[in-house]
Amino acid sequence: MQRVELANGDLSFSRCIQGYWRLTDWNMSAQDLVRFVEQGLELGITTTDHADVYGAFTEEALFGKALKLAPHLRDKLEIVSKGGIQFPCEQKPDVYLAHYNTSKDYLIQAAERSLQQLGIDTLDVWLIHRPDPLMDVDDVAEAFQRLKQAGKVRYFGVSNFSASQFSLLQSRLAFPLITNQLEISAVNTDSVFDGNLDYLTQNNIKPMAWSCLGGGKVFDDPQYAALRHKALEIGEQLNAKLDQILMAFVLRLPCEAMPIIGSGNIERVKQQAGAVDIHLDHQQWFSLLEAARGFPIP
Ligand SMILES: NC(=O)c1ccc[n+]([C@@H]2O[C@H](COP(=O)([O-])OP(=O)(O)OC[C@H]3O[C@@H](n4cnc5c(N)ncnc54)[C@H](OP(=O)(O)O)[C@@H]3O)[C@@H](O)[C@H]2O)c1
Repeated sequence: MQRVELANGDLSFSRCIQGYWRLTDWNMSAQDLVRFVEQGLELGITTTDHADVYGAFTEEALFGKALKLAPHLRDKLEIVSKGGIQFPCEQKPDVYLAHYNTSKDYLIQAAERSLQQLGIDTLDVWLIHRPDPLMDVDDVAEAFQRLKQAGKVRYFGVSNFSASQFSLLQSRLAFPLITNQLEISAVNTDSVFDGNLDYLTQNNIKPMAWSCLGGGKVFDDPQYAALRHKALEIGEQLNAKLDQILMAFVLRLPCEAMPIIGSGNIERVKQQAGAVDIHLDHQQWFSLLEAARGFPIP
């Protein structure tokens, strides 16, 4: 598995990352999860993606149970988590409305909660989950500074930020944001065309890519029938499966995006991670784009 250098070489991620958004749906025991993480490591997948909100604020604690059972895993992993979203659920009895909160005190409290739930001392990377219209960038900068000084977070990044939102927050920080985690797939190429990936590439920042398979919709949603057909056709040419061709679509982008695999099925994880060895040529890549959009390029 390739590695991607971040933070001026002080940190690296595996090219494919394991996502844990759906962990609470996988019905894994802590022991099952230890095995799943170990099998990922055997594939070279060392980076794990979490968020406080996953599983209605319960996912990190499940992952933490596995780490408690197998503490040797911690140092083999780069653990990424996110904060800044709140919504009403059992874990948040005082919240009555879904909202974003990037105030200093809330962010510090959210990162500390993630550490406590995961049962670790330091998050390798912590991201602001969504751009907050009420974000006071100086407040965020102070929260980041405090978390860094306390040794609670090594590096910071953002998720779902536009280029200008990224640039604005970066302008107030004494250290570089190391990633922007974006939805990137054949069915969502917004960041390819809106300048976001150009901005990241210009600044030598590598994006993490979420829902590279459209959250699973590419497999059965009628609106993606043409895309499936084209991906299967290209798969036959390249001796690759549908999911691998769609992962290869993301991997082909020059920004060196790091796809986050969302499956809890280790055979699928293995297959999708294998996409790093698949190279789409120009016509194959553009034919997937055309099939997904339903119209040819101008
Ligand atoms: N920053 C953000 O705002 C944000 C938002 C969403 C996600 N994320 C991150 O990105 C990660 C990946 O997102 P995602 O889960 O939406 O990824 P995805 O790969 O687009 O979708 C995963 C879904 O597709 C299904 N799937 C995978 N391979 C399949 C196959 N061959 N046939 C049928 N179904 C298949 C999986 O089911 P099985 O488990 O049964 O294989 C799972 O339900 C998340 O875990 C999370 O870490 C971040």
